[in-house]
Amino acid sequence: MDHVVRIDNGLIPKSEFIGLENIVHLAAGGEAPMLKSHIEVVNRFMSDKALAENSRVRMDDTVNRCKNKVATLFNVAAEDIALLSSSSEGINNLVYGLKWKPGDNVVACDVEFPSEILPWTRLKEKGVEIRIVRNRDWYVSLKDIERKIDKRTKIVAISQVSYFTGQRLPLAELSQMVRSCGALLCVDSTHSAGVIPVEAKLADIMVASCYKWLLATHGVAIFYLNRDRLENFDPPFLGWHSSVSIPDWKEPTVFELRANADRFEPGNHGFISVYVLDNALEQILRIGVPEIEKHVLELSGQLRAGLEELGFELMTPQHPSERAGNVCFMTQHIDAIVEALKEKGILVWGGYAGVGRVRVSTHLYNTSEDVNRLLGALKELPKSLKP
Ligand SMILES: Cc1ncc(COP(=O)(O)O)c(C=O)c1O
Repeated sequence: MDHVVRIDNGLIPKSEFIGLENIVHLAAGGEAPMLKSHIEVVNRFMSDKALAENSRVRMDDTVNRCKNKVATLFNVAAEDIALLSSSSEGINNLVYGLKWKPGDNVVACDVEFPSEILPWTRLKEKGVEIRIVRNRDWYVSLKDIERKIDKRTKIVAISQVSYFTGQRLPLAELSQMVRSCGALLCVDSTHSAGVIPVEAKLADIMVASCYKWLLATHGVAIFYLNRDRLENFDPPFLGWHSSVSIPDWKEPTVFELRANADRFEPGNHGFISVYVLDNALEQILRIGVPEIEKHVLELSGQLRAGLEELGFELMTPQHPSERAGNVCFMTQHIDAIVEALKEKGILVWGGYAGVGRVRVSTHLYNTSEDVNRLLGALKELPKSLKP
């Protein structure tokens, strides 16, 4: 093993989370636990909700505060950020909002999260081809992505960090390559935002779910629109919120579309979720992404080395620049392993997509002791479940 730094404390103590008292939680890549401070925030939302018109003022203030924090996290302007209900909704905006011609193609990877693939299948009837980049031993290379791109490639859709293998792609090189081919880059930063730096400008569209590494909850997701690159991108869905002001009743079909990313928000936000996200981002930005990245990479490095020593077949690259918080290994015994660990109070995430894999996620509340507890429990598995 390389030089190991023992991490005795989380960047946020476990005592500040709900439900972590007697649990080793290594599953933030699936569902992260909730901060206790979210309770106060949800209570604040409940009180604000009683204030009738004034409630909207407070809710909109919270949305604006939250967007400013997302903008800081992504190093972009708040005007480039929309808050939607899910990442999947964000991707569908591209399917139904961009102008597609027969012969166009979309490039995506075989180990991509389904929401970065399935929406494009709706374009097949318009003659749009979906080109799948094949992984090699679970590794996706920029060269292989480049080979799939041609003059008719409209979008390359990919995750910065893979939900399935844990591989982190070099966003700057990817962006440079995709743009030099004349295509758009759509990035899912669900497994990178809140863990490693996310330079959103390198993408043209970015989505991120908030209930995992961002420590918030469902019902709100981030949608970044690179307005310099997609100035005239018209939203496919409209509602009262899409308009700068409520139309005059005498001309109810006349309206001015909002100019910023908020034109992709047709109705009210999931305010209660936005309150929670705002609080979660407060904590993440207070600590700072560089600190979180250092913490997470040290732990995922310890974990990866330990799993390798136990003989598990790893999917996640070894080099720290090519991974983030997810370390994934293959097994035919997902359910039995996940269950055996659960019995010992250790939570990981299984998953099957043609191959069985277990994903172990280290986040800012984890410590080296958590990693050692997991490795110890895997060592004690019955022979039939071991590699
Ligand atoms: C890469 C990635 N994107 C998106 C999601 C979730 O998408 P949504 O916000 O639409 O539920 C997941 C969930 O596992 C994911 O792994």
